[in-house]
Amino acid sequence: MTTQPIPDATLRQLLDVAIAAARNAYIPYSNYPVGAALRAADGSVYGGCNVENAAYPASICAERTALVKAVSEGQRAFDLLVVVTKNAGSPCGVCRQMLYEFSPELRLITADLDGNIRSDNSLSELLPDGFGPNRLPR
Ligand code: THU
Repeated sequence: MTTQPIPDATLRQLLDVAIAAARNAYIPYSNYPVGAALRAADGSVYGGCNVENAAYPASICAERTALVKAVSEGQRAFDLLVVVTKNAGSPCGVCRQMLYEFSPELRLITADLDGNIRSDNSLSELLPDGFGPNRLPR
């Protein structure tokens, strides 16, 4: 568990962004809305939702939507991610892996759609001994 306090206003802002994003989830197949809010090192916040597809594997999770939005805007480092789902689920392995590429020490908070927080961990706790860029010889 991560213990350093997050200012209330910061947490509220990210929860609001994530909850608003979850309302845009395109989920005709699962009916499981997910919203994410990812904060970059410069303080910018990127929202994302899951976007499903009739060809199921083509779907994308909320966390990766937020990440690719941010990276495509030039961001490369992140310090905080808030994910909301109806049962406060934790990010899938593919999302953990993609986030690990940029910020292994990212702080990751899960909450339900009312903003009740369930967990608070670093990404490296959730993906121990992750495979990052420094594993590849150059
Ligand atoms: N989903 C996410 O958006 N994030 C996760 O970390 C777990 C799963 C989405 C994918 C799919 O649209 C729905 O939730 C059910 O798996």
